Amino acid sequence: MLYVVVGLALGRAAAEEHPAASQSGTGTSTNATAVSPATLELEQGHRLFTTHCASCHGPNGEGAKGPTLAQANLPRASDDESLKRIIANGIDGTEMPFARMEWVDIERVAKYVRSLGALPHEPVPGDPERGAQLYAKKGGCAQCHMIRGKGKVFGPDLSDVGRRRSATYVRHVLVDPSTDVPKSYTAWRADVSLPENFLYVRVVTRDGQEFGGVRVNEDTFSIQIRDATGAIHSFFKSELAELHKDFGKSPMPTYAKVFTKDELDDLVAYLVSLRQK
Ligand code: HEC
Ligand code: HEC
Repeated sequence: MLYVVVGLALGRAAAEEHPAASQSGTGTSTNATAVSPATLELEQGHRLFTTHCASCHGPNGEGAKGPTLAQANLPRASDDESLKRIIANGIDGTEMPFARMEWVDIERVAKYVRSLGALPHEPVPGDPERGAQLYAKKGGCAQCHMIRGKGKVFGPDLSDVGRRRSATYVRHVLVDPSTDVPKSYTAWRADVSLPENFLYVRVVTRDGQEFGGVRVNEDTFSIQIRDATGAIHSFFKSELAELHKDFGKSPMPTYAKVFTKDELDDLVAYLVSLRQK
């Protein structure tokens, strides 16, 4: 442990010296800089991060579908122990999976994640209060979304969306809602209620009634969907004439033309401010 701490300190000192050395034109920058144990460990951590984490947290932890990890205080991983625990176990009931990694690699990734804390925050221009107004009025978002118990539950609850998602991702959803809707079923997470297995379903019963809604449950013989009013409908597959699974499609309308650029900024600022304690 002591060795690592010393290595880190040396690595930092070497990095600080490096530009000065090249400016003075001595050309004596040493290979030791590149291969200091701490630097090496961070590189290993970054490589593991690229393989196991970047698809959800962005190539440099800036955030994507998953939250930005480039912040000094991670709400759920306030110390190294909780960070390693989250990486090893995932977060139950969320899309955050456990990592299929050896413990030494978990430690390396955790170090890399901690090193991101120094990066500047993701810039979020816009005024959250104006965004809240747009959400309530012009956007009509509460027809489909719930925030702290207010609204409908056709789409995901947004009370905590600022902690689950990055600003980039949220903006993306508003402009092009279908892009991140899964194109197929994810066996890796069997729970169909998670966003990873989001599916819009349309059915026609044998007596000609039509229903559309978000799948909340399915097994071999039956399927349950929640319609836009929030009502749950349950069907035996044997009583259906048609069952359409709209993989990769979202029932959410695009807001690309509804809002101006400034309004989108405001709305995004509002959404990323939503963090439940
Ligand atoms: C399939 C997508 C996915 C992958 C892969 C993934 N994460 Fe996550 N991660 C998430 C999501 C989504 C959340 C937010 C969970 C929530 O609160 O609903 C999250 C949360 C976290 C948090 C908690 C942040 C906080 O709120 O304090 C940490 C830390 C984290 N991830 C680290 C990692 C690391 C390190 C890896 C790679 C070993 C990784 N994640 C891989 C999706 C993912
Ligand atoms: C007709 C219903 C409907 C309306 C209206 C609607 N949404 Fe959605 N929204 C959905 C559904 C369904 C999803 C889940 C599928 C997806 O990601 O496209 C969703 C997903 C989202 C997500 C991603 C949530 C996550 O955790 O991944 C955000 C953010 C969001 N909506 C915000 C908004 C905002 C803001 C408005 C108003 C400007 C709005 N929605 C209007 C139905 C709707």
